[in-house]
Amino acid sequence: MGEFIRAAGVSEIPEGTGRSLELAGRRVALFNVGGSFHAIEGTCPHRGGPLGEGFLKGRVVTCPWHFWQFDVVTGAAPDLPEACLRSFPVKVSGEDVLVSLDGAEAEARAGEARET
Ligand code: FES
Repeated sequence: MGEFIRAAGVSEIPEGTGRSLELAGRRVALFNVGGSFHAIEGTCPHRGGPLGEGFLKGRVVTCPWHFWQFDVVTGAAPDLPEACLRSFPVKVSGEDVLVSLDGAEAEARAGEARET
């Protein structure tokens, strides 16, 4: 099981809202869907919009910049399969929302290596 780090307090993210966070140098978007917390990569793959500041309806967030949409549970973009974002494991411990980024850095390095 990966290492979980504190991302926010439960009461800081009311139902139906999200938040942009910087966790271990990585931008993450954390959402509360009906009392259940979900985390995906926080940077929109279109032009880098902050998805945590997007408009959440049900489990779909709409990027505040140009309105691309993503499922915050799976990271998938319903209209753009190639734009799928990584989702991260989330758990609640007491009043804290915890996110695991394990594997994310290795994946990012692999991505950079592929681009060079
Ligand atoms: S930056 Fe998100 S839709 Fe353009």
